[in-house]
Amino acid sequence: MTVTTISHLADHVGATVTLRGWIHNSSGKGKLLFVQLRDGSGFCQCVVLKKNVTEELFEAIGHAGQESSVELTGEVKADERAPGGFEIGVTGGRVIQAAEGYPITPKEHGTDFLLSNRHLWLRSKRQWALMRVRDAVITALRGFFAEREFTLIDSPMFMGSSCEGTSTLFPVQYFDREAYLTQSGQLYAEASAMAHGKVYTFGPTFRAEKSKTRRHLTEFWMLEPEVAFAELADVCELAEDMIVYVVQEVLRRRKPELEILERDLSKLEAIKAPFPRLTYDEAADILEAHPESEFVRGDDFGAPDETILSNRYDRPVMVTHYPASVKAFYMKREGDKALCVDMLATEGVGEIIGGSQREDDLDLLLERIKEHDLDQSTVEWYLDLRRYGSVPHGGFGLGLERTVAWIAGVEHVREAAPYPRMMYRIEP
Ligand code: 4AD
Ligand code: MG
Repeated sequence: MTVTTISHLADHVGATVTLRGWIHNSSGKGKLLFVQLRDGSGFCQCVVLKKNVTEELFEAIGHAGQESSVELTGEVKADERAPGGFEIGVTGGRVIQAAEGYPITPKEHGTDFLLSNRHLWLRSKRQWALMRVRDAVITALRGFFAEREFTLIDSPMFMGSSCEGTSTLFPVQYFDREAYLTQSGQLYAEASAMAHGKVYTFGPTFRAEKSKTRRHLTEFWMLEPEVAFAELADVCELAEDMIVYVVQEVLRRRKPELEILERDLSKLEAIKAPFPRLTYDEAADILEAHPESEFVRGDDFGAPDETILSNRYDRPVMVTHYPASVKAFYMKREGDKALCVDMLATEGVGEIIGGSQREDDLDLLLERIKEHDLDQSTVEWYLDLRRYGSVPHGGFGLGLERTVAWIAGVEHVREAAPYPRMMYRIEP
């Protein structure tokens, strides 16, 4: 008896195999049952004819509710009309555990209910497809940086200082002192780049975001490359190449999942280099001329401004040279502008990447640290990078959940994280 998975049925057409999984739903009457089986690798219709199985098995399957765990044996038939392209003609098997009253039925549930049952909601078809898109995005990102000979250097989660401003820090008791959960691995990526040239760090980051928006989580994953001898234009090019690569890979590996998500594939197929580039001033001109914008020149863009800008193009747009006053302390400046870039994804999604060239001059960096009221003693080590062989360098941070939500075409980042953390949600 060959045990296989739904994803490998194509190798077994005409043969008898055993599948192990869960009943996604079932229907039928009299002498015939249709079981939609899911096994984690896919979904498959299993047809149970009373005359082909024991009385006991027919009864057991007929009474097993949604999410009952089962083992089903039968012949694999190729069938164009069947979802997934195959069907099993069941001849044997068993119900491992008969589930009753599964709370998430195919009928509509509110998002709050679904999030409270996230541990179960993940089994639904859409959520399954989404997690597989997330997986493919991560695999593609790692592949991209490996191909380009970047070294992965992980950064710590416990931090002695802030990186992205003190207002979103999560303090934690660290023995007899206060520490913070990391907001970004960037400062460590910079140090690592001086050791390895081209590096990236990839892991969870934390921000005490009090805003309840579709774009903010309190815990999210960020991928941050950092490159020695890179200037702003190099940073932009790297971000562009990476996004094109990732979208292509997801299209190549996850088309069925994107179809389950009803994603408009033509929108993803349009993501090709070169991406449009705008300076902040050019973007500001566009917003000022837009009847619905409340943008004030000199401010950072709000979510509605980013939506207006991103809706203008069929590719992500890169906005550079924001006023230094609205950006982080570590960014290199040109006059009163920061040598920075935000990438705004298409279809109104807005920022998925933020990056910059870094200030590489010790005295200028010390000035910024004073301006931002940071405790110099906690970043002395970071200042060493400007004391011992300082070079121009830069990098960016890609928000994983925002990128997954964009590629998958879901509205809210909370669905792009397996177990999302938000201001009012820390369970399950
Ligand atoms: O623009 P941000 O704050 O940049 C940094 O943290 C830099 N240190 C990165 C670097 O240059 N190495 O954050 C980068 C990205 C954003 O573009 C966004 O995609 C994501 O991280 N992000 C969030 N995603 C979900 N929830 C939040 N609260 C997020 N905050 C930022
Ligand atoms: Mg940003």
